[in-house]
Amino acid sequence: MSENSRRSLKLGAILLGVGGPGQHNTWLDPEIPTTASVDVNWYIARAQEAEAALFDHVFIVDSQFITPDSPNHYLSRLEPLTLLSAIATHTRHIGLVGTLTTSYNEPFNVARRLASLDHISGGRAGWNVVTSGDAGTAGNYSRDQHFDYATRYGRALEHVRVAQGLWDSYEADALPRDRQRQQFLDRTKLHALEHVGEYFSVIGPLNLERTPQGQPVIFQAGDSEEGRDLGAAIADAIFTHAQSLEQAVAFRTEIRERAAAKGRDPEHVLIVPGIFPVIADTDEEAKARQDAVLGAKSFEKALAELGRPFGWHDFRQYDLDAPFPAVSAAGERSFRTQAEAITKLARDRNFTLRQVVQHLLDAGRSPFVGSPQTVADQIQRWFEAGGFDGINISVNAPSEFAKFTQQVLPILRERGVVRSEYESTTLRGNLGLPVPENRYTAARTTEAPVLLS
Ligand SMILES: Cc1cc2nc3c(=O)[nH]c(=O)nc-3n(C[C@H](O)[C@H](O)[C@H](O)COP(=O)(O)O)c2cc1C
Repeated sequence: MSENSRRSLKLGAILLGVGGPGQHNTWLDPEIPTTASVDVNWYIARAQEAEAALFDHVFIVDSQFITPDSPNHYLSRLEPLTLLSAIATHTRHIGLVGTLTTSYNEPFNVARRLASLDHISGGRAGWNVVTSGDAGTAGNYSRDQHFDYATRYGRALEHVRVAQGLWDSYEADALPRDRQRQQFLDRTKLHALEHVGEYFSVIGPLNLERTPQGQPVIFQAGDSEEGRDLGAAIADAIFTHAQSLEQAVAFRTEIRERAAAKGRDPEHVLIVPGIFPVIADTDEEAKARQDAVLGAKSFEKALAELGRPFGWHDFRQYDLDAPFPAVSAAGERSFRTQAEAITKLARDRNFTLRQVVQHLLDAGRSPFVGSPQTVADQIQRWFEAGGFDGINISVNAPSEFAKFTQQVLPILRERGVVRSEYESTTLRGNLGLPVPENRYTAARTTEAPVLLS
């Protein structure tokens, strides 16, 4: 790991096929195949373009509950780790980050799948840890309702700790595979976890040797008090939003303080918000382009989509010009933080339902709009002011992404803000993150007792 790689701006590409939340018209763009979200070749081509531009990773978001009002991309899309395994075989450097929920998975299965991806890709696997915001997922997993927040985040912490424990099952040199000495396994270097906790009992060991990264990189997304606490405890990187520079700096400062309070080095927790640059030849053109995109958005679709953070509550039943209905309880087991923020906004500003929907449509306005020079300046300013360590760029139309890679990145590269070549063969190495030492190897060398969680 070089200090240089730690200091450069990290770059991720969110691959959203025919369009995620709020992107109602993406699928109509003639440049995007209407089958993009299920077309492995579309994803491979986008990942290869991101790799050619020296991106750190591609990022696959996910959920497992849909309604007919879900964003088009969500209605029919590939399972993240299956997809990333296919991308792995067509790329060499770029990291592969997949979203997997701790609420509807077992840690053994998750640990095994991610470790497999790390082996398949030669050390490029990442896990975006989420607890599932879509409350309806419960019905697909034999439950009457989604877990409450305390359980969701309690499970998440234990889930990740168990996965990390399983990834340490084998020490680095546990499999000598020595035909001459007839020794395949060194039994002293294989360890069962024997975890019995509040939510999971997992004996182990994992049936997969130590991976090229030691452990896959851990991202985390979830913005409540509980979510921030989880991120500070377990994340190598945090996926978040960034509405203003002040808010971004405050968030990054808070997470770094929380991580330090947990005895972690804040330099090892990268803050990586999603951003949506709008680029044109001039600032005026870019602003006009953004206005056109926002103006074309459907109020009806936005009204339906407003229900998502509230457990897909149907807002179409209400009078649009009456005060915003008091239904924040509907978000209690869904995207509670978002539901509460919308409710507070409506209360503070005395908004009607129509005004809330209109406000949310306008809130899609990106702070990164302008000529390549302007967008590069803005990104550099936020980065240097401590607003983020990296950015996840939403990729829809390839020509839009190319504007970023071919017009904005060269400016940032010239200024030394982004890398000029990959520093490492692993995602961890490129992100400038340390390789976690195997706990049993560490205990052997320090003779300290092994702590399992
Ligand atoms: C930036 C961001 C991205 C997220 N991406 C996903 C995702 O891809 N899949 C998912 O199930 N949940 C995702 N979540 C939701 C979290 O899983 C979480 O359940 C939800 O935000 C509610 O928790 P919170 O109140 O702590 O934010 C995301 C949250 C944030 C803030």
